Amino acid sequence: LRRRLEDAIDAREAELQRTELDRRLTEERVDVTMPGTPVRRGHLHLITQIRREVEDIFLGLGYTVVDGREVETTRYNFDGLNFPEGHPSRSPLQTLFLDAETVLRTETSPSQIRTMETQEPPIYIVSLGRVYRRDTPDATHTPTFHQVEGLAVDEGITLADLEGTLDYLLKALFGEARKTEFRTHHFPFTEPSIEAHVSCHMCDGSGCPICRHSGWIEIGGAGMVDPNLFEFVGYDAERYTGFAFGWGLERIAVLRHGIPDLRELWRNDPRLLRQF
Ligand code: DAH
Repeated sequence: LRRRLEDAIDAREAELQRTELDRRLTEERVDVTMPGTPVRRGHLHLITQIRREVEDIFLGLGYTVVDGREVETTRYNFDGLNFPEGHPSRSPLQTLFLDAETVLRTETSPSQIRTMETQEPPIYIVSLGRVYRRDTPDATHTPTFHQVEGLAVDEGITLADLEGTLDYLLKALFGEARKTEFRTHHFPFTEPSIEAHVSCHMCDGSGCPICRHSGWIEIGGAGMVDPNLFEFVGYDAERYTGFAFGWGLERIAVLRHGIPDLRELWRNDPRLLRQF
């Protein structure tokens, strides 16, 4: 009797399972050949792409990438970089102070001092990141932007090494054909100082409001490290020479891709971002 009951239960169970399977096979039919719902993939922001590209260029030249600090003391942002007392950059009208001795760094140059304080020459480093200034936004300025800082300190480094390195960087970023030039300039932390210019991305050199009818846009500064910096960090200024540079990544982006207004890079409009 018991076996008959168990057989009947098994048979009924198998039948119920079969019916359930049939139901699911008809109701939940999946056409595996149908295209799926596309998921839009994000990608790196143009500035991050350029940052990585510049890092790669310098890694290829044997440089090391070092981190800096976005919050800096006036010692590293100004004193170590030979900014005299009363220099306009030290004013709260130009620089964002957190307290009397702490600022949002106005440039990536403090990373030079921090690197030299902790390492002996030879030094070949780049340091990339955000910097902050009390600037009114316009087509070529934003209060936050990115810079790449470079520093080379060794025996026998000359201005020719600096120009050769920057020329290599310009060609890697803009190609052989783009018009570029170096001009003399002044920075507290370099002597002599130069400034690199690239032909304007909007008028290609003929003159327009963006380049103030000069045909050129400044991409950044550079120069031979002032011996005062070596003294500040305790290097032998008789033995070592060096060069340094600091360029804007947003400037590289607009000059390379013909973006009319630098502020576009901060608006996060996908119609712009998707193009890169
Ligand atoms: N710190 C400068 C600026 O923000 C750029 C600069 C110029 C950096 C010359 C350097 C340099 O290292 O040597 O405008």
